[in-house]
Amino acid sequence: MTAAATGAAWYKDAVFYQLHVKTFCDSDGDGIGDFKGLTGKLDYVRDLGIDCLWILPMYPSPFRDDGYDISDYCSIHPSYGSMQDFRDFLEAAHARGLRVITELVLNHTSDQHAWFKEARSSRDHPLRDWYVWSDTDDRYAGVRIIFTDTERSNWAWDPQTKQYYWHRFFSHQPDLNFDNPAVREEFWNVMKFWLEIGVDGFRVDAVPYLIEREGTSCENLPETHAVLKFLRQRLDEHFTDRVLLAEANQWPEDVRHYFGEGDEFHMAFHFPLMPRMFMAVGLEDRKPLVDIVERTPAIPENCQWGIFLRNHDELTLEMVTEVERQYMYDEYARDPVARINVGIRRRLAPLLEGDRRRIELMNGLLMSLPGSPIVYYGDEIGMGDNIYLGDRNGVRTPMQWNGGWNAGFSSADPERLAQPLISNAVYGYQGVNVESQRRVEHSLLNWTRRLIRARQSSPVFSRGTTTFLKPANHRVLAFLRTLDRDQVLVVCNLASTAQAVQLDLRELAGALPIEMFGKSVFPRIGAAPYVLTLNPYDFYWFKLRRL
Ligand code: GLC
Repeated sequence: MTAAATGAAWYKDAVFYQLHVKTFCDSDGDGIGDFKGLTGKLDYVRDLGIDCLWILPMYPSPFRDDGYDISDYCSIHPSYGSMQDFRDFLEAAHARGLRVITELVLNHTSDQHAWFKEARSSRDHPLRDWYVWSDTDDRYAGVRIIFTDTERSNWAWDPQTKQYYWHRFFSHQPDLNFDNPAVREEFWNVMKFWLEIGVDGFRVDAVPYLIEREGTSCENLPETHAVLKFLRQRLDEHFTDRVLLAEANQWPEDVRHYFGEGDEFHMAFHFPLMPRMFMAVGLEDRKPLVDIVERTPAIPENCQWGIFLRNHDELTLEMVTEVERQYMYDEYARDPVARINVGIRRRLAPLLEGDRRRIELMNGLLMSLPGSPIVYYGDEIGMGDNIYLGDRNGVRTPMQWNGGWNAGFSSADPERLAQPLISNAVYGYQGVNVESQRRVEHSLLNWTRRLIRARQSSPVFSRGTTTFLKPANHRVLAFLRTLDRDQVLVVCNLASTAQAVQLDLRELAGALPIEMFGKSVFPRIGAAPYVLTLNPYDFYWFKLRRL
């Protein structure tokens, strides 16, 4: 763990790494990744400069939503190993100073979960009320559908008991009834179970949808916040130093409420920022990015945003306007197969046409904008995707460790792999892999490692304030991160052409800019406009040294 990530509110200083056990490393040759395999790769993750792992769902599941359809909350999917394997993994991670958060899927279970099987067995079953039932399918009319490509309604018919049940995601994922106090209590038990084993917190799935009320959007309701505050209070009563990270794909004003007064979530993803980073680079204009950050309300001192470029889902375009969405599709998903639901199912490198300069710029933004950065596994080597794999599986292919048998992911027959490998001529594992990038000083992998190290060299990135400069050249994004007397100036060229910019830095007159990657000293700041030139997609991080 970097020194920075050991203090109070460690999550504010942490760099996160998101991975799926299933596709990271297979130790027993059955074609499916497992905890033993992952344990063997912990040094890799630590050496990258990561502080905390986020493990995608690892529980028993029929896998109709890649594990987000959970059929048992308190064990490990047998394909991933035993509970002991998980404990060993956790211990090995902690021994390396790595923290681990896992998934807490509150909103719904799989229809194969014992609770639902019992609940649907008869209308009088005591567990009936753990789910949301109705005689008709017209209640909560107008509530939006999330999986627009597969679902027509948020109600599904149960032929056995002749009622409808409510589901915000797939119809095989019935929503739990959080109005029922027994459900809350049960989830506290689930949390306690994993916290006692030693996990450092949870990424909490789909939090806006816990409670339904007629005449509302059934999202972000005060009653939902009450459930979440209850779970946080229990957490604080029994444990210290753990983190709750909210998945609330909402506008900043609405997400703000998930932090409460510092008594609900410690962290929440900043969903609207993500597409605007892509827009700013696509449009060569800082406006979309600056606007969304400036529109983001302040959050309590003990809280932090989680920021990201890509994750295991589609690049969601729910938190943009219709015009912006059309722009994103035109710019980043001209091929309709690349689109799914309200978003784009591509990884970072293919989105940016494999352009190393843009990949670096986007990562530079990720590591310098306010929030804790989350790296999606494989993006640090520029892995590709396969949009033909169905659902969002194209961005969930096996990690590419080397150019050998199954990319070093598994010794199984290639046909048996959990997901097919990327093997095309541009992004295929034969060329794009950890081993080959380890050997080359200027590979994306080694560059990413240096980027993370530079970020972690100063707490201004994790804890500092952010002030945008507004130079006349709108193709240039410039901002100051400040923490006490520490100050970093970030200047990015969002354009595909060379740019010059004049920055008004009068208030910093006398400071000496030290470029953070090469430690070169730049001319001292004076009263005159500070002129910089930048190559296409170039960026600078300057530590400002005072006299
Ligand atoms: C979250 C997950 C997504 C899953 C959905 C339903 O949005 O990120 O992968 O499909 O919840 O559980």
